[in-house]
Amino acid sequence: MPAKFERDEITGVETTGHEWDGIKELNNPLPKWWVFVFYATIVWSVIWWILYPSFPTLRSYFPGILGYDQRTELAQILEEARARQATWMDRIRSMDVQAIAADPELLTFATRGGEVVFKDNCAPCHGLGGAGQLQYPTLADDDWLWGGTLEDILYTLTHGIRYHEDPDTRDSQMPAFGADGILTPDQIRDVAQYVLSLSGRATDEEAAGRGAEVFAQQCAACHGEDGKGMREVGAPNLTDSIWLYGGEFEDIVRQVTWPRHGVMPAWGGRLPEESIKMVTIYVHQLGGGE
Ligand code: HEC
Ligand code: HEC
Repeated sequence: MPAKFERDEITGVETTGHEWDGIKELNNPLPKWWVFVFYATIVWSVIWWILYPSFPTLRSYFPGILGYDQRTELAQILEEARARQATWMDRIRSMDVQAIAADPELLTFATRGGEVVFKDNCAPCHGLGGAGQLQYPTLADDDWLWGGTLEDILYTLTHGIRYHEDPDTRDSQMPAFGADGILTPDQIRDVAQYVLSLSGRATDEEAAGRGAEVFAQQCAACHGEDGKGMREVGAPNLTDSIWLYGGEFEDIVRQVTWPRHGVMPAWGGRLPEESIKMVTIYVHQLGGGE
């Protein structure tokens, strides 16, 4: 049979008849291995179609004979994770916070879990890592309004602060000395100078001297004779450089005239018990725990 197309002179191979600018294409057969791989992929794809979810049908799709489904797989993974956590959660529920903190493994687990709870529920007010902001106390230092032991923190979290829906909430009320006319504006300026003097910042020593008397009569009952605060009533230490409502003269006058009363919601009943324990341990671990 005569060749359909001309043969190349040098190689003796038949050409395909294609020619571009004098360059002709030889009609060499495909390598055997290549052809084999090509057919193998076709066979493989057919097997795959049969085993796994593939073709659409009118209503849904062909699920494949293996019954594989990513959702089922995800649900299984989650179920396993929950089962693995359950043993930990059971232990946390049944132990008190000191015992949890004393067990290195549980401590690590609770601190990590507590960090997640904190980011979700507490960071909007207290800042990431408990950094605090004006009107919201820093939780990462050792300056505590109500106390920094594990029990103190657990109690604060469970019952809240000035959260009157909880009858056991931590409570106290600094009187509105100015607004209610308990002190005159002059007396308030004097006592504010005295408060400044507690951290060595008085600008009017004479006024501060008069203010000392006012302080002893009106303030010491809560803030202590020495102004170092009192945890039973959540009264801050006025001698340090940490201020909830600002430490300048005007800030102090404002607080004495028209005090703010910080409120924190109670978390008991709002968060699961184990979450409250974990976040207690997390806060205690932030640096100021006692
Ligand atoms: C709506 C804002 C808000 C949220 C949310 C909040 N807090 Fe508070 N928290 C406060 C305020 C305000 C105070 C200070 C109350 C006061 O003046 O005594 C406080 C006080 C505290 C104290 C006492 C600090 C001390 O010095 O004794 C702890 C501990 C605390 N919060 C932990 C948490 C944790 C943990 C969460 C998350 C589960 C949380 N808070 C969520 C507003 C909030
Ligand atoms: C009944 C108790 C009580 C009495 C009396 C009282 N305080 Fe307070 N004081 C508090 C409490 C509680 C807070 C914290 C309020 C809060 O956390 O929202 C506070 C907060 C303050 C602050 C703000 C501190 C900060 O960190 O920003 C100043 C300043 C202050 N008091 C000064 C005084 C002075 C001055 C007097 C006397 C004229 C006085 N207090 C009397 C309970 C009291």
